[in-house]
Amino acid sequence: MYMEAKDGRVLRVVSTPSQDLALTNCSFCSRAQFEDFQLPRADYGMVSVNGQLVYKILPHDAVEKGCLALNAIQRRCLKVSNNDAVAVERYALPASGFNLVMIHVELDFISKGKKQETIDAAIISKELTKRFSGQVLTTDQKVSFEYVGTNFLFTVGTVLVDGQLEGEGSLGLLIDDTVWQFETPANSGIKIVNQKGGQSTNLFKTKEFNFQKLGIGGLDAEFGDIFRRAFASRVFPPHVISKLGIPHVKGILLFGPPGTGKTLIARQIGKLLNGREPKVVNGPEVLSKFVGETEKNVRDLFADAEAEQKSRGDESDLHIIIFDELDAICKARGSTRDGTGVHDSIVNQLLTKIDGVESLNNILLIGMTNRKDLLDEALLRPGRMEVQIEIGLPDENGRIQILGIHSNKMKENSFLSADVDLEALAAKTQNFSGAELEGLVKSATSFALNRQVNFADLYKQLDEDNIKVTMDDFLKALDEVKPAFGAAINTLELCRY
Ligand SMILES: Nc1ncnc2c1ncn2[C@@H]1O[C@H](COP(=O)(O)OP(=O)(O)OP(=O)(O)O)[C@@H](O)[C@H]1O
Ligand SMILES: [Mg+2]
Repeated sequence: MYMEAKDGRVLRVVSTPSQDLALTNCSFCSRAQFEDFQLPRADYGMVSVNGQLVYKILPHDAVEKGCLALNAIQRRCLKVSNNDAVAVERYALPASGFNLVMIHVELDFISKGKKQETIDAAIISKELTKRFSGQVLTTDQKVSFEYVGTNFLFTVGTVLVDGQLEGEGSLGLLIDDTVWQFETPANSGIKIVNQKGGQSTNLFKTKEFNFQKLGIGGLDAEFGDIFRRAFASRVFPPHVISKLGIPHVKGILLFGPPGTGKTLIARQIGKLLNGREPKVVNGPEVLSKFVGETEKNVRDLFADAEAEQKSRGDESDLHIIIFDELDAICKARGSTRDGTGVHDSIVNQLLTKIDGVESLNNILLIGMTNRKDLLDEALLRPGRMEVQIEIGLPDENGRIQILGIHSNKMKENSFLSADVDLEALAAKTQNFSGAELEGLVKSATSFALNRQVNFADLYKQLDEDNIKVTMDDFLKALDEVKPAFGAAINTLELCRY
């Protein structure tokens, strides 16, 4: 299958004339046809093949007229075989906004074996630039090359294109200044060393997040948002970011009604991240009755980040500071009448660290609150806690997940009766928060436990093996546990602000 070429030709695929040419990622055509594709004032041409990938094209005596020579990897990428027809069009490079600022690639051996290789990122970047500079690379494209006597393959991942936002471009021109970032597939035997800014690409322990494993239910979408918005720019090395002039997100605010899992997230977020443990504090804990002590507590929180920014500059690790119950210390300035002005000075102090003269570039402040309405407005402006994510009451699916999390242990130990239908319970628990769902499970358990207790003889051995929490226990629990927001919709509105 091929598309009819508009301003080009339909050519027949053949193999690259020689092995060393196969490792250049160029395509080849006959001398007679070369001028159809040649770029003005250049000794090479550019073609788009089947509208999918763009290759440099060179003339070669061994290629017959009407043929396009491609190597095996190129054919695999295009999903074509020898003798297939492909549409080949001359490709005009866009005049601007096409250079690759950064390219993320996955490096692997062509033939998989038990080989081990340590690769210096700085050296291989130079080699790859030398070989492929001037070529157009596209996300998902595979390119083969030879390096220190071994044949390798790289697969293009995300690319960052000049003048385009992250995630917008999928192809661009490799230039001498393009920054390479390397990754390897798990267990590939390749070890990348000396990767500049590599630390930030390894910010997360895994590529896919499984929040349920962390005991957080129903918040997958919210988590996706947090990571996309707060960490996206951190994944690129600092020298790239400084070239692009994108400021990092320095503050995120998670807000929403009580018991929805904000504190839980604060406690678990560190488990997703490599390296430095986030600092977790809560508002009331920072407040001190001693004069000046609260301000000092806040200063101390930032001390490590400050020291590292001074000594390592842009190469500094990311310091995550999680502020739970932020409303306790960041009430609107002038709103508290305790006469001490402590809140005012703390707000000012935080603002200075985030975007003041001595602002830090290596921090991410994550604040949590159930009263966004009480927070000082100034904290919420762009450049400060600008990413605001609502952690709302769970929807029905979320409730199934949360009930599953909190009844998992008893299920594993076969204390959960088979008649317990979590989906039916999720349908009956509208407006329940995560904490209330946890309460529901606890209450149901207490009914089951009570059945085993002989109140006439409290010393009698409990029949541990026969404890079963049944659907009936859950239904009784539903009479006991009521959602705070069941009736009082108004208070829910307050938290949403
Ligand atoms: N999404 C959830 N998934 C699983 N468990 C949850 C979830 N939300 C709440 N819980 C349970 O409820 C408990 C209390 O929730 P948490 O302290 O995180 O609420 P919060 O949002 O911080 O509330 P507040 O605004 O009052 O501080 C958690 O420790 C957890 O056991
Ligand atoms: Mg909390």
